[in-house]
Amino acid sequence: MKLSDTKATLSFSNGSPAVELPVYSGNIGPDVIDIRKLYGQTGMFTYDPGFLSTASCQSAITFIDGDKGELLYRGYPIEQLATQCDFMETCHLLLYGNLPGVETKASFAKNVKYHTMVNEQMQFFLRGFRRDAHPMAIMTGLVGALSAFYHDSTDINNAAHREVAAIRLIAKMPTLVAMAYKYSVGQPFMYPKNDLSYAGNFLHMMFATPCEPYVVNPVIERAIDRIFTLHADHEQNASTSTVRLCGSSGTNPFAAIAAGVACLWGPAHGGANEACLQMLEEIQASGGISKVGEFMNQVKDKNSNVKLMGFGHRVYKNYDPRATLMQETCNEVLEALGLQDDPLFKLAKALEKIALEDDYFVSRKLYPNVDFYSGIVQRAIGIPVKLFTGIFALARTAGWIAQLNEMISDPEYKIGRPRQLFTGSPRRDVLPIASR
Ligand code: CMC
Repeated sequence: MKLSDTKATLSFSNGSPAVELPVYSGNIGPDVIDIRKLYGQTGMFTYDPGFLSTASCQSAITFIDGDKGELLYRGYPIEQLATQCDFMETCHLLLYGNLPGVETKASFAKNVKYHTMVNEQMQFFLRGFRRDAHPMAIMTGLVGALSAFYHDSTDINNAAHREVAAIRLIAKMPTLVAMAYKYSVGQPFMYPKNDLSYAGNFLHMMFATPCEPYVVNPVIERAIDRIFTLHADHEQNASTSTVRLCGSSGTNPFAAIAAGVACLWGPAHGGANEACLQMLEEIQASGGISKVGEFMNQVKDKNSNVKLMGFGHRVYKNYDPRATLMQETCNEVLEALGLQDDPLFKLAKALEKIALEDDYFVSRKLYPNVDFYSGIVQRAIGIPVKLFTGIFALARTAGWIAQLNEMISDPEYKIGRPRQLFTGSPRRDVLPIASR
């Protein structure tokens, strides 16, 4: 980061002396005012719940221009990555900063494949869960438990440990998500098949059984690979910030990623794809397209607490480029599977059309986000709704681990420790119980 020629001056109406604050510029995007010495100079904190105006770190991984609807991984537009590269190349890019050539890609993919199996003991741990446990509950437990199985990659301050943990996490997440699914339907776990692609292997572990051969459909393989690529990283969102904050204490990489999984579960974040499909199913069950107007009135009613799931984004205020790519994949998958007349897809299109023209959504700059269509694609492929967020977690692991490793290698990194504006009681004394 470069020191800007501009300086910010903070003055006070109570006569306290003004303070000059340095301003830094990134390569693109807004400048930042450096307030690190503010408390020392003024005895005051800044107040920014929800981090609406706070850059929590410097990062060279992902850039989003929310007004333009632009998403870049290491400078490359998501549109080019999604159409010209696969998820393995994207993982390499996020972790090491460059797109691999043919040989590097082959050796990276081989390294990942070498780590796809999980310790056999993991399945006994998994079997401790109820069959109807939510897959994200299982994933939070399993990912954290990796630290109990892979002791040679738990030292976050050791670069070699971090490297092995990164590969292990990327390699084992599909295995764990598929195991959580197989367990829920009572089918045997399928071991990874290393002659398949990363996406193809995931489909195999999900849908193959030991009884008959399973052939990966290339359209579905491409769709899954694209879902992975589109979800791989997204700058300092809630789960990534959770991973960074958790990792800042020096905990092991598996524990930090498990914290990210837990955060992603929420419906305002990764859980939105599941919530979006549930919303579509509920509208469909209550009368389908004819009920869209009624539903939209509920969404616009402040007292109803109903949201149009899959719409709106903290950063994108024009359009979410991932949503456009996901809609394209949605068309491709539905056509390949002969589901063009899928009623939920038609319903989603009807909701989108109304929302894009309605002043409530237009004035608040609410557009479809990636989750609006990703659920329809996954449902068409046969993935149960409850597993959607687990698949998001699988994909986001690449970004989480890249961000975690970037933080640990940053000489300016410190344990994260926000402060607060205290609004509770000042000091008071405990009275004897009889007189309280
Ligand atoms: N439906 C109806 N109204 C909405 C919606 C929505 N989906 N999203 C925002 N609004 C309204 C909100 O009520 C507020 O109205 P007002 O100004 O009258 O109070 C205004 O728009 C601004 O919303 P906000 O809550 O201040 O915006 P935010 O930046 O804090 O929230 C969000 C962003 C994604 C949490 C929110 O838009 C939302 O809950 N969307 C639905 C859930 C969803 O699809 N999440 C997935 C995000 S993309 C995947 C990911 O990256 O995790």
